[in-house]
Amino acid sequence: MEGASSLRALLCMLVCVVTLSVVYGNLEGDVLYSLKMALSDPNNMLRSWDPTLVSPCTWYHVTCNQDDRVTRLDLGNANLSGHLVPELGKLERLQYLELYKNNIQGVIPPELGNLTNLISLGLYNNNISGNIPPSLGNLKSLVFLRLNNNHLTGPIPVELFNLPNLKVLDVSNNGLCGTFPSSGPFEHIPWDNFKNNPRLEGPELLGLVPYDTNCS
Ligand SMILES: *[C@@H]1O[C@H](CO)[C@@H](O)[C@H](O)[C@H]1NC(C)=O
Ligand SMILES: *[C@@H]1O[C@H](CO)[C@@H](O)[C@H](O)[C@H]1NC(C)=O
Ligand SMILES: *[C@@H]1O[C@H](CO)[C@@H](O)[C@H](O)[C@H]1NC(C)=O
Repeated sequence: MEGASSLRALLCMLVCVVTLSVVYGNLEGDVLYSLKMALSDPNNMLRSWDPTLVSPCTWYHVTCNQDDRVTRLDLGNANLSGHLVPELGKLERLQYLELYKNNIQGVIPPELGNLTNLISLGLYNNNISGNIPPSLGNLKSLVFLRLNNNHLTGPIPVELFNLPNLKVLDVSNNGLCGTFPSSGPFEHIPWDNFKNNPRLEGPELLGLVPYDTNCS
């Protein structure tokens, strides 16, 4: 009797796990498919991204954890153009979002601030414009933030000054303005990583440097 009931419990658990991974697999597959639809992909890098599969975990350039949740997207140097999609903010377990060295246009969706497990955001060497979203200040796990060589404008949001784990920040070669502080997580970031932003001044010397009020 006991054997039968524990077998039933085991089966039930198995069904639950499979159901959960299918549900998340579909959700996360839909998210990635919406990205594919927003990109132009002349080199066919996203050929394996078939939305009819139960999960995106077998797709090339996508990595999942043992629960079939997406943890990495590796599409650097892939000759992609087009734009990012706000749906990316739904990839709750994502740790690495690597889309550097492409020709992606448009803005950084503020929804990326929902990726609270993100360790690395690599968007350098693209054609991204608009402001750095203040919501990126929610990314408490972020270690690498590389946005250099784009067309970003506006200030570095003060929200980023308190990212507890940030080790590498590069915003060089953009159109940023305002000031940046020399303390906090920015303390050990080389000045070169801020260079070639003609209207960016820093570091902030206890308010001695006047804040650029035209910076927006
Ligand atoms: C990138 O794509 C363009 C077409 O948009 C093509 O002409 C070019 O050869 C591709 N570059 C590489 C390095 O594959
Ligand atoms: C995701 O981020 C956006 C913009 O930052 C916000 O409006 C939205 O409520 C967030 N969604 C979730 C599910 O947290
Ligand atoms: C970069 O994006 C702008 C629009 O934001 C576009 O006009 C321009 O042609 C793009 N540059 C390249 C090299 O694709």
